[in-house]
Amino acid sequence: MRTIAIINLKGGVAKTTTAINMSIILSELHQKRVLLVDNDIQANASKFFNLHDYDKNGIENVFRNERVATKELIERTSYENMDMIPTNMNLDNAVSELMQEEGDQIGKLKKALKEVESEYDYCLIDCPPSIAMNVLNAIVAADDIIIPIKLDKHALDGMEELIDVIDELVTYNKNLENIMCLPVMTMKDEFVLAGEKLLRESNYRVFDTNIRYSVKVIGSTFQSCVGITEYSPRCSAAKDYKGLVEEYLRLVKDGE
Ligand SMILES: Nc1ncnc2c1ncn2[C@@H]1O[C@H](COP(=O)(O)OP(=O)(O)OP(=O)(O)O)[C@@H](O)[C@H]1O
Ligand SMILES: [Mg+2]
Repeated sequence: MRTIAIINLKGGVAKTTTAINMSIILSELHQKRVLLVDNDIQANASKFFNLHDYDKNGIENVFRNERVATKELIERTSYENMDMIPTNMNLDNAVSELMQEEGDQIGKLKKALKEVESEYDYCLIDCPPSIAMNVLNAIVAADDIIIPIKLDKHALDGMEELIDVIDELVTYNKNLENIMCLPVMTMKDEFVLAGEKLLRESNYRVFDTNIRYSVKVIGSTFQSCVGITEYSPRCSAAKDYKGLVEEYLRLVKDGE
């Protein structure tokens, strides 16, 4: 199983959109067995898959002292090859408790995912816009990190800090192979194009694929469980997300 953490300190930069659509495309179009982990108390991905439920176990259990077996946290989605570990606001408490704990604070998610590594080809972790303890756990668990970047004036704010945090955690994560930026919500606007040029000329690694801005993406959020490739197969963002997954599979040399 290969684990992809989708992170950025900034909010509203398509982390959840990317996690959901990459998961659906990997499972539906590439027949990969996918586990999507919702690691954000906002629970946008859990709500999208109708799995937001305070009576159910969720990712919070990974961070609590009295551990539950990982397979007990997994829910089926409406997609055949795709399961999910959902979340809810209880995650907030679990993360606060974790910060008071002695001993291993950042390796809990990695350890939990190891229990189910033979069940899946890919695990995607949707993270909140922060570097809270649950995000550090995602960084430590990851083989690959994807940082979606919306190219506005503040696009690269926090990037240095984020890369510094990742660098510090590399000693705890010998598996981390790729840290890739993904330009999202791009459009033919002179400032956006200039921002993209700057990003591509920087020291950061950037996917060749851009995810273009498309109003259809916003529409798709109103339809539970329907990814952009099904909601509007011909829109630019659907084509771009398919291209992104192909580029990602080439990057990790998954010849299928
Ligand atoms: N390619 C796109 N074109 C147009 N709108 C988009 C695109 N990608 C994402 N959006 C919209 O941008 C908003 C933010 O997206 P999303 O919720 O995925 O961001 P996020 O980084 O997960 O946010 P948060 O930090 O709050 O978790 C949503 O309304 C989403 O529909
Ligand atoms: Mg989100």
